[in-house]
Amino acid sequence: MFDSTLRWRRICLGMAAPACWLLAIPIAAQAPEKQPMVEEVFKNVQALKGIPVNQFMDTMGFFSAALGVNCTGCHVAESLQDWSKFAEDIPRKRMARNMIRMVETVNKTQFGGRRALTCWSCHRGAQAPQLIPSLAEQYNLPPEDANAIEIAPDGPKEPTADQLLDKYIQALGGAQKLAALTSFAAKGTMEGYDTYHMKVPLELYAKAPGQRTMVAHTQNGDSSTVFDGRAGWIAGVDRPVRLIPMMPGAELDGGKFDAELSFPGRIKQMLNQWRVGFPSTTIDDHTVNVMQGTGAGGTRFKLFFDAETGLLTRQVRYADTPIGMVPTQVDYADYREVAGVKMPHKMVITWTDGQANILLTEVQPNVAMDAGKFAKPLPAVVKPQGTR
Ligand code: HEC
Ligand code: HEC
Repeated sequence: MFDSTLRWRRICLGMAAPACWLLAIPIAAQAPEKQPMVEEVFKNVQALKGIPVNQFMDTMGFFSAALGVNCTGCHVAESLQDWSKFAEDIPRKRMARNMIRMVETVNKTQFGGRRALTCWSCHRGAQAPQLIPSLAEQYNLPPEDANAIEIAPDGPKEPTADQLLDKYIQALGGAQKLAALTSFAAKGTMEGYDTYHMKVPLELYAKAPGQRTMVAHTQNGDSSTVFDGRAGWIAGVDRPVRLIPMMPGAELDGGKFDAELSFPGRIKQMLNQWRVGFPSTTIDDHTVNVMQGTGAGGTRFKLFFDAETGLLTRQVRYADTPIGMVPTQVDYADYREVAGVKMPHKMVITWTDGQANILLTEVQPNVAMDAGKFAKPLPAVVKPQGTR
C-alpha cells in the first residue's frame, strides 16, 4: 500500500517557498470567486482538460488509490520538490493517460456513456490487475467495508429516517438543549499528512445555523477552511492554489453540511431525499444503521448511526470527477457534553490523498463572535523556511 508521507498535500511543504508562491499568486489575484481551471495552473494536461483544479487533484487521488501508489508512482521523484516536474511525461504516466482514454472509450461504446468502468474496477489497489480468480477470496469472507453498503430492495424499512434522526437528536441531549447552543469557540490539535504527523494547534469557530471556520497552525503557515453560511473557501499552504472557493457540488455541499452539523438540531432540513433500506453493517465492531441524504448540489451523503447509542459515527460523501466518484469520510468519536449537548471531540477526516486527525481539547459554548470570523480568508501564506 502507499507511503502516505509522499502524497501531494505534502509536496508544497517540502518545496522551496518561492516555487509555491509562483504557482499561487497570479491565480489568487485575478480570479477571486471562480476556481481556476487545470489549463490555467498546469502545463501538460491533455486528457483531463476543462475541469477545475480541485477536481483534477481529486482525480490524482483517485489514481493513487486505484493503483495503490503515491504520486511518484506516475511522476518523476523530483516532483516532490518542484511542482513543475509533474508536467514531465514518463512511461507510467503515458500509460495512465492511455488508460484514461481507454476507459472513456469503453464507457462510451459499451455502456452508453455511463461511467460503468473506472480505474478501480480493474486495479483495485494494485498496479497490475489480477488475472486469475482467487480461491482465498472466494472461500474467505473479506473484511467488511461499511462504506460499500448500498440500499437493497429487501433492505430493512425500519428504523425509518425520522426515527433515526429523532434518536440522534435525543442522544445528543434533546431538541431544547440543541436549540440553546448557538455558537462555540474551540481549541485543539490537528495531526496528519499536512503536519508531518505532528500535532499542531487548531481553532474551530461555529455560529448557528451554519457558519464555521477551522484554522490549523501548521509548521508551514496557517491553513483555513471557512463557510460563511452561503459560500466557502479553502486557504491552504499545501495546495497548488492558495485560496480557492468551494465549487457548487460536493465541495459546497460538504462545506455547508460540515458547518451546519455543528448545530445538529436542524439535521432533518440539512439534506433532502432521506432514504433507508441499507442492510445492517458494523464499524469497529459496533452495529450501525446507515441512511442516505442528498445535498442541494446533488451530492450523496451516507450517514452511519451507532445502533445502540444513536450517535453519528461516520459520514461519507462522494465527489464527482471525470473518471469516477471519490469518497471523503469523517469519523466522529469521543462525544462529550458542552452546555448539555454531546459534541464529538475527535474527528478523523479521510480522503483519497490524505488524512487529518482533529482533537478538541477545550470548547466554549455561546460566546460572542464577530462576523469577521467567517469572512472570506486571505490566501494562505507560507512561512519562510527556517521559521518553522
Ligand atoms: C496512475 C498514474 C498517476 C498517479 C498515481 C498520479 N498522477 Fe498526476 N498525472 C497523471 C497523468 C496521466 C497526468 C496527465 C493528465 C492529462 O494529460 O490529462 C497527470 C498530471 C498531473 C499534474 C499536472 C502537471 C502539469 O503541469 O501538466 C499534476 C500537478 C499531478 N499530476 C499531480 C499528481 C499528484 C499530486 C499525485 C499524487 C496524489 C499524482 N499526480 C498521482 C497520472 C498520475
Ligand atoms: C479494463 C481493465 C483496466 C482498467 C479499467 C484500467 N486499467 Fe490500467 N492496466 C490494466 C492492465 C491489464 C494493465 C497492464 C498490467 C500488466 O502489464 O500486467 C494496466 C496497467 C496500468 C498502468 C501501468 C502499471 C505498471 O506497472 O507499469 C498504469 C499506470 C495504469 N494501468 C493506470 C490506469 C488508470 C489511471 C486507469 C483509469 C483511468 C486504469 N489504469 C484503468 C487494466 C486496466
